Amino acid sequence: MSDLENIAKQILAKGKGILAADESTGTMTKRLSSINIESTLENRLKFRETLFSSQGMKDYIGGVILYDETIKQKTSSGKSIPDLIKSFGSIPGIKVDTGAKNLAGSNEEKITEGLDGLRERLAEYFILGARFTKWRAVYNVSEKYPSDLAIKSNAHALARYAALVQEAKMVPIVEPEVLMDGEHDINKCFEITSKVLKECYKELKIHNINLKGTILKPNMILPGSKSKKKSNKTEIAKMTIKCLKENVPSEVTGIAFLSGGQTEIEATENLNEINKINDSNFLMSFSYGRALQQSALKNWGKNIEDIDNTQKIFNHRSKMNGLSTSAKWNIDLEKQLTN
Ligand code: G3H
Repeated sequence: MSDLENIAKQILAKGKGILAADESTGTMTKRLSSINIESTLENRLKFRETLFSSQGMKDYIGGVILYDETIKQKTSSGKSIPDLIKSFGSIPGIKVDTGAKNLAGSNEEKITEGLDGLRERLAEYFILGARFTKWRAVYNVSEKYPSDLAIKSNAHALARYAALVQEAKMVPIVEPEVLMDGEHDINKCFEITSKVLKECYKELKIHNINLKGTILKPNMILPGSKSKKKSNKTEIAKMTIKCLKENVPSEVTGIAFLSGGQTEIEATENLNEINKINDSNFLMSFSYGRALQQSALKNWGKNIEDIDNTQKIFNHRSKMNGLSTSAKWNIDLEKQLTN
């Protein structure tokens, strides 16, 4: 097994998934202001350090995606954040794109940027301890979008990113996110996600990517958040698996879904259902931001010195998601908030 495949397998080891704690300062500021906490360097670190030193990290989190600010920070006891994460048995990762900007030629859509100087930044992140990376492309869904231009240009950028990351001996997370916003139904999400994934793997192949040394971070197949037609968990699970089996090459080591606006319970329940009927060879796990952090953040906002209870809540959420990776979650377990 290659080193890259080994890293990917460690991150998604049985019962484990990824904590996406890579919110940019702008996004983190919005999250903190929603709980009336000032977004200072210290507060952002304090919340993240609380999560990274939780028991749940040891048991259920195989990798943590960091933001540039955090990977360079130190804990109150002087340990670097990547070392803290490693001491809890998890692998540090880093978001390396510089965000989605308006796409010239189709201005209502986005292109993710960050390729300039990426080779040099990757070398620095490797020294800081990162062993995997993330790049997120976003696609909005409507009658006319996403355009072929958005699909092709984002796939090309994802592939160039992945090639540079593997050259730097790290595992690239390839994240093409078909957004949940909109009135579209589940069939439209299936159709667009299929098109997007096909194009991504076409480009990854052209760029000679070792697919075994990658992780795919896709959206689940869901109706739009304003859709009049709701779908149940069985339909979501069936269509998600079908879409991945049809469009993702079997060499890809693992799949770690984003939560993308689902509630915490929805994200857990849908992943559990996916794993109940998963008849593919893919490991199906999670790489959640909001769906792992929301309740913990809310509690922390009430009293930022209440580390114990914030960690308890985070441990519980991590455990529920950990269980869903092997279809062992159920709603009764949700009520058992232990340590
Ligand atoms: O790129 C997206 C994040 O890493 C995952 O965030 O689970 O809140 O959608 P989310």
